[in-house]
Amino acid sequence: MDSEKTIGTDSYYVEPMRIDDVPAVSRLERRCFTNPWPESAYRRELRNPANNFYVVLRWRSDRPQAETSPPEPRGRLALLPLIRRPEPPVTDSIVGFAGMWILYDEAHVTTIAVAPEHRGRGLGELLLVTLFDEAIRRRAEWVTLEVRVSNAPAQALYEKYGFTRQGLRKRYYSDNGEDAYIMWSPSLRDPAYQQRYGQLRERLFERLAAKGITAEKHGLPHPGH
Ligand SMILES: CC(C)(COP(=O)(O)OP(=O)(O)OC[C@H]1O[C@@H](n2cnc3c(N)ncnc32)[C@H](O)[C@@H]1OP(=O)(O)O)[C@@H](O)C(=O)NCCC(=O)NCCS
Repeated sequence: MDSEKTIGTDSYYVEPMRIDDVPAVSRLERRCFTNPWPESAYRRELRNPANNFYVVLRWRSDRPQAETSPPEPRGRLALLPLIRRPEPPVTDSIVGFAGMWILYDEAHVTTIAVAPEHRGRGLGELLLVTLFDEAIRRRAEWVTLEVRVSNAPAQALYEKYGFTRQGLRKRYYSDNGEDAYIMWSPSLRDPAYQQRYGQLRERLFERLAAKGITAEKHGLPHPGH
C-alpha cells in the first residue's frame, strides 16, 4: 500500500510569473544558483511577454507539516508581557520557476529551478514540459540552452527530452569561470520527436498522479491553441 497517499496530497500549480512574484522568485533563485539575476532583470523580462515566457510553480500540501513552533514559555517567563514568541516562519508557496525567450523559430531556456526540498518528484520535468508546450504553441522549431559542464542532474533532464550537446562556451559563468555546454533539442516539428515527446509527457503526468501529486496549470494557454 502507498502510505504517502493515506496522509494527504501535494498540489502543484504552474502559473504565469507576475511582477508580485519576483521577490519570492529571487529568494528561491539565491538558493538554487550561485549567480542569481537581480530582481530588475525579472521585471524587465516580464514587461516583454511577446518574446518571453516565465512561469512559477506553487505548492500546496495537506500533509502534516513538521512542528516548527518554539516551545511555550514556562514559569515566570510566561507572565512577562514584553517577551513575544517569534512569528512562525513564512513559507513561500513558490517552489520552482522557469523561463525562456522565444525569437523566431528558437526558444532559449534562460532559467529553470526547483527548490531543493521538492526535487526528485518530476517537478523540474513538469516545468520543462510547460516550456516545451509553449514553444510548440508559438511555433518554435528548436529549444536551446546553456548548462554548466558540472551540472549532471540538469543535463540528464535535458537528455531525457532528447537534447544533445552541440558546443561549448568557454568560461561562460562569471562566478567561477566554468564552461557551459550548448544543448539543442531535436526539431519540434519532426513527427518522430513529437511522438516521443507526447509519450514522455504522458508518462510524467501518470508518474505525478501515482505519487499523489496533483499538477495543474492555471492561467496558461492551452498547448494546442
Ligand atoms: C535541474 C532541476 C531543475 C531538476 O529538477 P527535479 O525536480 O529534481 O527533476 P525531476 O525530478 O523532474 O527529474 C526529471 C529528470 O531529470 C533527471 N534528474 C533530475 N535530478 C537528477 C539527479 N540528481 N541525478 C541524475 N538525473 C537527475 C533525470 O533524468 C530525471 O528523470 P527520471 O526521474 O526519469 O530519472 C533541479 O535539480 C534544480 O533546480 N537544480 C538547480 C538549478 C539548476 O541547475 N537548473 C538548471 C540550470 S541549466
